[in-house]
Amino acid sequence: MKIGTYYYPEQWPRQQWQRDFDNIAAMGLQIVHMAEFAWFDLEPAPGDFRFDWLSHCLDLARQRKLEVILCTPTAAPPIWLSQSLPQTLPLYEGGIVGRFGGRRHYNPLSPEFHDATRRIVQAMADRFGDHPAVIGWQIDNEYSNPFDQSDVTHAAFRRWLRDKYGDIQSLNRAWGNQFWTAYYTDFDQILLPPSRDPKYANPHQCLDASRFWSWAFAAYNRIQADILRPRIGHRFITTNFMPLHPDADPQDMAADLTLFAWDSYPVTGWEKEGDDQTYRLADPAQIGLCHDHMASFRNRLALMELQPGHVNWSGVPVRLFPGAIRLWIWTAFAHGAEFVTTYRFRQPRFGIELFHEGLVGPDGVTPSDGGKQFAQVIEEIRRLDLSRIPKFADETPRSAETVGLVLDFEQLWYYLTLPQARRWNQSKWLAIWYAALSRLGARIRILRPEADWPDDLPLIVAPAVQMIDAKLVSRLDSYARSGGNLVLTCRTGLMDRTGQLWEGPWAAPILPLIGASIEAYDSLRDDRFGQIRFEGKTYPWGVWGDQIAPKGGTEVLATYADQFYAGAAAVTRSRLGKGAVSYFGVCSEPPLVEAFVESLAKSIGSERLQATMLPSRVQVLRRGPYRIALNYQDQPVDAPAPASPKFLIGSARMAPADVAVWEE
Ligand code: GAL
Repeated sequence: MKIGTYYYPEQWPRQQWQRDFDNIAAMGLQIVHMAEFAWFDLEPAPGDFRFDWLSHCLDLARQRKLEVILCTPTAAPPIWLSQSLPQTLPLYEGGIVGRFGGRRHYNPLSPEFHDATRRIVQAMADRFGDHPAVIGWQIDNEYSNPFDQSDVTHAAFRRWLRDKYGDIQSLNRAWGNQFWTAYYTDFDQILLPPSRDPKYANPHQCLDASRFWSWAFAAYNRIQADILRPRIGHRFITTNFMPLHPDADPQDMAADLTLFAWDSYPVTGWEKEGDDQTYRLADPAQIGLCHDHMASFRNRLALMELQPGHVNWSGVPVRLFPGAIRLWIWTAFAHGAEFVTTYRFRQPRFGIELFHEGLVGPDGVTPSDGGKQFAQVIEEIRRLDLSRIPKFADETPRSAETVGLVLDFEQLWYYLTLPQARRWNQSKWLAIWYAALSRLGARIRILRPEADWPDDLPLIVAPAVQMIDAKLVSRLDSYARSGGNLVLTCRTGLMDRTGQLWEGPWAAPILPLIGASIEAYDSLRDDRFGQIRFEGKTYPWGVWGDQIAPKGGTEVLATYADQFYAGAAAVTRSRLGKGAVSYFGVCSEPPLVEAFVESLAKSIGSERLQATMLPSRVQVLRRGPYRIALNYQDQPVDAPAPASPKFLIGSARMAPADVAVWEE
């Protein structure tokens, strides 16, 4: 794994470039990321390209054996474009036009913006496509924008709907337009809603709007990828995703990107849970989930931006726990990232992000605490023999060390549109399962409905896959029947892919799998917790609880211990063919999920799944011959290593936020 940094030469005096590149190389960094946001400096007037400065910087990098990720600068359209072609600017609800002066002030569907994009991207690719220092290209930056409200966008939405539904009657049916007689008689009457919030209008329309908007960014991304591909040889094409951000489902770009990268700013000060210090260290489950999601597309993943210290935007600028950055870099390594780069090398002295730390401070030369941690990991990684680690794509984890977690992006959209319980948080629910599964020391395979799944996984968990289709039901069914252990949770299988309930019993398609029916559900007031009894102990829940009516032969594993329905089943298990299906009917707090996963792993048996739970917030992952242990606790823990292994990093006793690496 290589380590690098963002550098914006255009933001600093030219006479400092040599010095800065020297310092980047001296810190041991191997990659420099450039040209993101530099559109004006590359093209100060339409068609007037000024690439010599960038070419000079590429040479400065090359002379120091630094590799370069080159970016297309389209996230920061220049003033001449916004001014001469205001139709490229975004248009918000109420007729408000986005202004020049920040970034992302474009409509990804504007034909004039497409023309300007083609011109700059093609010129850059022609000039630098085969530059020996360049290892890959990043397109744009963090795709996201409110739903645009301009005529071109509404027209594109209508075309997209026409392609999807063919005739207006089908659309009326899919959107349930008989409700309040909201019928359309022509596609031309339809508008893209201003947001995912239906505001008491049509949720099915909002769901399609989410799909369309992600498609729109993917279509825009494709314009750039198509220009780059023939001009850059074997170099990778990527973009940097925000973690599970609803504006861009990475799946929509799967055909156009060759490496999947994301941006990690895990300490925001926003967390409300826990009265210890772990909020300064971040949640390893949310980080792991994003890494593994990225890995699920092309088996090539990277961390494009990693928080180097304080950020400027969270409003709660907590100091990071000492060693947090080192821990995050090692986490990326353990998950198979090809590289980690950080935003940014120099802390800016000006601009909206002047409080954002870099690897060096505002003087441009003094390493920050983050800079020192980057240098430390670079030195530590040298102790490993990287040639013994196979490429991530070639690494075949033992099946007893891999479990599956179903992540279907569409569900995130519909939960935002129709949460029903306002505390429902689908990405948190996924992370709770991820956290429990990773305590098994297992590598977690993110299973997307659109992709192939390995057929030998000992355990698959599908949390709250609310919209379901026959294909996914039969996939889950045959997995269990052929000997798998399937876990479904509450809010699975309630609807079809338009987001309409079945004309039938609650969760009709999954009832044959779970051997039960669902009689009712409850959700508790924000300040209340109910109790669940499981294997002689009680555990809290609050957000959602199904009361399950098991059929004959279905085992009851947990019951509600209070409320007027005390004694009702909350978790059940039934046999299906050669396998078993557990129905975890409650969105509980983490302890019940963890106790359940531990018990399930024991019942599966250690030849198929390791059943000793690691301490909470401790991850252990394998890369080649190495085991990497990551302690996200604010307390010391014993490294979960065999007796006297050969430690390359750390030791048997891990300090808070510590890393240990040993060879097996
Ligand atoms: C990211 C963005 C960077 C920078 C950073 C600050 O979301 O891609 O350009 O703004 O946030 O934390």
